[in-house]
Amino acid sequence: MTVYLNGQFMPIDEARIPVLDRGFIFGDGVYEVIPVYSRRAFRLAEHLLRLQHSLGSIRLQNPHSDAEWGRLIGELIARNDGEDQYLYLHITRGVAKRDHAFPSPPVAPTVFMMSSPLLVPPEELLHSGVGAVTAQDNRWLRCDIKAISLLPNVLLRQQAVDAGCAETVLIRAGSDNEAGFLTEGAASNIFVVKDGTLLAPPKDNLMLPGITYDVVLELAAANGIPHEVRRVEKQEVFAADELLLTSSTKEVLAITTLDGKPVGSGKPGPMFARLHRLYQDFKRDVMRKNQN
Ligand code: PDD
Repeated sequence: MTVYLNGQFMPIDEARIPVLDRGFIFGDGVYEVIPVYSRRAFRLAEHLLRLQHSLGSIRLQNPHSDAEWGRLIGELIARNDGEDQYLYLHITRGVAKRDHAFPSPPVAPTVFMMSSPLLVPPEELLHSGVGAVTAQDNRWLRCDIKAISLLPNVLLRQQAVDAGCAETVLIRAGSDNEAGFLTEGAASNIFVVKDGTLLAPPKDNLMLPGITYDVVLELAAANGIPHEVRRVEKQEVFAADELLLTSSTKEVLAITTLDGKPVGSGKPGPMFARLHRLYQDFKRDVMRKNQN
């Protein structure tokens, strides 16, 4: 496995980070995960735009132009095995004496990239769906930043694993007399389906603006699937006919149990079947166009 670190490609075993890196000390950095299909980065422009949003939000200058990122990413893909890969990009505020405030003058950021084989959900999981649990969303108020400081997400995801499930569906507490509302999953976006309508929480500071989320909403719009982007109440999550999760590595998956109870029929439903097929067709189309 070949990785990229601060201007050089090298075997992963040779990549070293100083212990004073602010990513290590403070979790002071941001990241991206980009799927690669047939050796082409999927939705690269959108991922780079989100990276710019994350960097800008933490006041870190983007170390590369989009053209430079494109070249480096292309080289990383070429140097690694596999037609389908998953790229991880990670940028921290660099190495400096431990002090919460930004280093002054600024130091060079640490830029790291690696590629792993992309293992999309196997056929059995598409047929069975996955289990999920719910938990209170106790993260900070800037969940729109793809920050490397993921401790809350790690703890929330582990709650799912401890219950033998795949994901934790997060409910943000409402004001005193409200039950709360859906934000997203510990590492995915969540959609609710009710009476044939796809419901999606709005992109705001309480959720990561998912690239797969955008693709799913675009596909819904292009194919006449009724959909609403609006606040989704906690009760609506529990009364859902179907629940879907999306992410760059999981694509579109059905959640078929929630807190141990079946969601709707307890099987992946018609909305899942339709969106999953549309997503696969869309991917295939994009790849074909790229190659021609
Ligand atoms: N996570 N919300 C959160 C909190 C996430 O961590 C992710 C993805 C998503 C989905 O975003 P996208 O569709 O752009 O992958 C939503 C990645 C896969 C990860 O951290 O590994």
